[in-house]
Amino acid sequence: MAILSPRTALITGASAGIGEAFARRLAASGCNLVLTARRQERLEALAAELRRAHGIEATALVADLAEPGAPLRLFQRTEELGLEIDMLVNNAGYGLPGHYVETRWEDQAAFLQVLVTAVCELTHRYLPAMEERGFGRIIHVSSLAGLVPGSAGHTLYSAAKAFLVKFAESLAAEQAGSGVQVTAVCPGFTLSEFHDVTGTRDLVSRMPGYMWQNADEVAAEGLAAVAEGRVLCVTGRVNRAIAAAAKVTPARLAVRVSQARSKDFRRPRGAGQGVGQGAGQGSGQSAGQGAGRGAGRGAGGAGASGQ
Ligand SMILES: NC(=O)c1ccc[n+]([C@@H]2O[C@H](COP(=O)([O-])OP(=O)(O)OC[C@H]3O[C@@H](n4cnc5c(N)ncnc54)[C@H](OP(=O)(O)O)[C@@H]3O)[C@@H](O)[C@H]2O)c1
Repeated sequence: MAILSPRTALITGASAGIGEAFARRLAASGCNLVLTARRQERLEALAAELRRAHGIEATALVADLAEPGAPLRLFQRTEELGLEIDMLVNNAGYGLPGHYVETRWEDQAAFLQVLVTAVCELTHRYLPAMEERGFGRIIHVSSLAGLVPGSAGHTLYSAAKAFLVKFAESLAAEQAGSGVQVTAVCPGFTLSEFHDVTGTRDLVSRMPGYMWQNADEVAAEGLAAVAEGRVLCVTGRVNRAIAAAAKVTPARLAVRVSQARSKDFRRPRGAGQGVGQGAGQGSGQSAGQGAGRGAGRGAGGAGASGQ
């Protein structure tokens, strides 16, 4: 019988923010879940809550995707458990502030491992069975930052997110007609723990409220795009307007605007050490709900942006 919707989704970065929001929405639709991140307690609590609330199967698997062996171990564990993953949500991520040469290479390498290499490897490992079953849904959580010119600070972030957009486009083209769909979801400023982990909460809390979405809105728009078979999904009207403007603005002007505006939310110097490396692990850090909608007014206004 043809599969019409995902039965088991694996979500990376499911312990907080956008990943958790995807988990809640998919569980409510009856989809079984494999939840992965580093914080075991959070994952176990979410899995138990979603099992109770929706009668689904939810499995928590701890993995630090900065470890090069983690994607393979995760894949092998789901195989051992007999879990057929037909939706993969590559969501785990963080920002690494700092002027590139002032950061430690080890931190940049770990960043690339989590945001790029793990995404490529998990996709590569889960894709063959999806192809074989004639059904699969892959989401790369990219960013508006991948669609506007790069700017100083957080140097590899825009590049990593642009990579995910291009990866999704190519893979979607390759998979046309196979039953496997690939979607890059590009949020802008989203209420989550992201800016606490990245160490930019003080800066971004001054961004105007209309720039922000909550994680559930991002997940809802992402899943709607998947249902429509769209390859690219920029979430939120303001973000769509910024992405559209970036496309038609002459390159030199777009770069200037991006560089000027990014001072409102990027930290180019002096903060690049160790962010994201286990930040928040077991710390029960706050969800950062203080910033965003309704909080902080007056900085910047619209312009090229993206986290
Ligand atoms: N928030 C924004 O403004 C925004 C905007 C555009 C795009 N995004 C993207 O959205 C995605 C989700 O971010 P978010 O906003 O939901 O941030 P978040 O609330 O900080 O959640 C990030 C998730 O990634 C996991 N993670 C981080 N490092 C990991 C590692 N080494 N191994 C395994 N899991 C790891 C975290 O879990 P543990 O700490 O438990 O491991 C957490 O579950 C990211 O890819 C981010 O780049 C965010």
